[in-house]
Amino acid sequence: MLVPCAILALCLGVVHSQFPRSCTTQAAFNTKTCCPLWKDGSSCGSLSGRGQCRDLVVFTPLAAGRVPQHDDDRLDWPRHYYDNTCECFGNYSGYNCGECKFGYFGDKCDRQKINVRKEIRQLSLPERKRFFSYLALAKTTKSRDFVVLSTGDRHHRDTYRFVDASVYDVFAWIHYYSMKAIMENSTFDDSKNYAHAGPAFPGWHRLGLLFLERQIQLLTGDEDFAIPYYDWRGEKNCSICTEDFLGDNDIQGILDKFSHFASWKSICSGFNYVDAYCPAADDHCQMETLHRKPGTNPTANWLPSFQDVEDTLKWKDFDNPPYNRTSQRNFRNALEGFLRPSDGITLERNMHNLIHMYFGGTMSQVAISSNDPIFTLHHGFVDKIFEVWMLRHNATTDVYPANNEPGQGPDECATPYFPCYRNKDFISSSSTLGYTYSKYQGM
Ligand SMILES: *[C@@H]1O[C@H](CO)[C@@H](O)[C@H](O)[C@H]1NC(C)=O
Ligand SMILES: *[C@@H]1O[C@H](CO)[C@@H](O)[C@H](O)[C@H]1NC(C)=O
Ligand SMILES: *[C@@H]1O[C@H](CO)[C@@H](O)[C@H](O)[C@H]1NC(C)=O
Ligand SMILES: *[C@@H]1O[C@H](CO)[C@@H](O)[C@H](O)[C@H]1NC(C)=O
Repeated sequence: MLVPCAILALCLGVVHSQFPRSCTTQAAFNTKTCCPLWKDGSSCGSLSGRGQCRDLVVFTPLAAGRVPQHDDDRLDWPRHYYDNTCECFGNYSGYNCGECKFGYFGDKCDRQKINVRKEIRQLSLPERKRFFSYLALAKTTKSRDFVVLSTGDRHHRDTYRFVDASVYDVFAWIHYYSMKAIMENSTFDDSKNYAHAGPAFPGWHRLGLLFLERQIQLLTGDEDFAIPYYDWRGEKNCSICTEDFLGDNDIQGILDKFSHFASWKSICSGFNYVDAYCPAADDHCQMETLHRKPGTNPTANWLPSFQDVEDTLKWKDFDNPPYNRTSQRNFRNALEGFLRPSDGITLERNMHNLIHMYFGGTMSQVAISSNDPIFTLHHGFVDKIFEVWMLRHNATTDVYPANNEPGQGPDECATPYFPCYRNKDFISSSSTLGYTYSKYQGM
């Protein structure tokens, strides 16, 4: 046990601290400013016309009627930490405007490129091997740009610290952090969060996949890389849970030792405390390995059908009041899976939620489910359904409703991403973000 942990610690480089690393200095927190220098020596690359340091308070007005309060550090993201962040011009993006918007490449970000995300079974053997080797690299390479937040106790700010994580683990942590219980007046409420059970759900996850895809493109220098998806419609079992694909597991849920992810550990696992953030984010010995038990939970041992997806797509309204897990007759809640897609009323587990529970193990602990790469394939397909729905109903940003779910207002920044991406901006064609989906089984 000690030996593998020691080796991993070496590959990752031992600790110093999805916060931009350069914005976690005392000076950045004192001035509440995250406007790092770009390589031309100016803040946000302003001398090169890439961007400028902007007052966020003007850019993202609070949802109507909400009084600012920062009991929970994520509310009104990222204003608990920063009032000023970079605003990037034209095709530039990134926390310091040093990168390009999704779908753009090159030093001047003037080369647009649209990649096709394929169903994993459509990949050629070399493409599939490339995907698994890129994931292995992302799992073992320390993120250059980002660090993650860990706390011993959320009531005490002096226990907050920023620690290193691998590129993949930063992605996994983002999902975890968005889902932790919300602290209000010193009590914890886990009935809502920043990424689920509300209108932000489809766009938030779209952004998560784009983040991972772009991080892998940057890490490998491969601009053609696109994450694959898993079309689970009508599957009788998890047909990609084999050695050649995502890996087989034993009766206890342990992945076969020859499978690609057999040695993967889950960041933030084993610490499902409401009152702390990922206390052992930097201690690999404390993390659980991935596990899965597809199809063994008797209350979730089937997968959604072709008809379930068709029924989900027919709903014309994007979301409906009260914009939470009880919202009826709308696309978002049918897709997310809090109700029956056919009638849009009966509360039951279906679609997206059903898949998480079907897999059991890591995937069914939804906050840490992003540790299992099946999460990316699953959400790739959820995002494809979102794309098909937008096309079918000619949806534009104005279908995104004003609502009172924390962090889910149309003009609020998706939590906890850098730079700020407004929730409503993801109601737009994927081709404007640099990707499309392959056709598979008639969709
Ligand atoms: C952004 O990229 C597009 C497509 O390559 C290019 O035509 C456009 O000039 C670029 N915009 C800016 C502001 O550089
Ligand atoms: C928190 O306290 C404020 C001020 O006392 C109060 O208005 C608000 O309703 C409280 N929130 C909760 C969730 O108890
Ligand atoms: C899935 O079902 C097929 C056909 O019934 C079977 O051959 C295969 O072994 C099953 N795969 C798994 C991973 O259970
Ligand atoms: C959904 O919103 C309604 C109206 O605000 C509220 O009464 C209900 O408790 C909420 N349900 C959940 C599960 O959050």
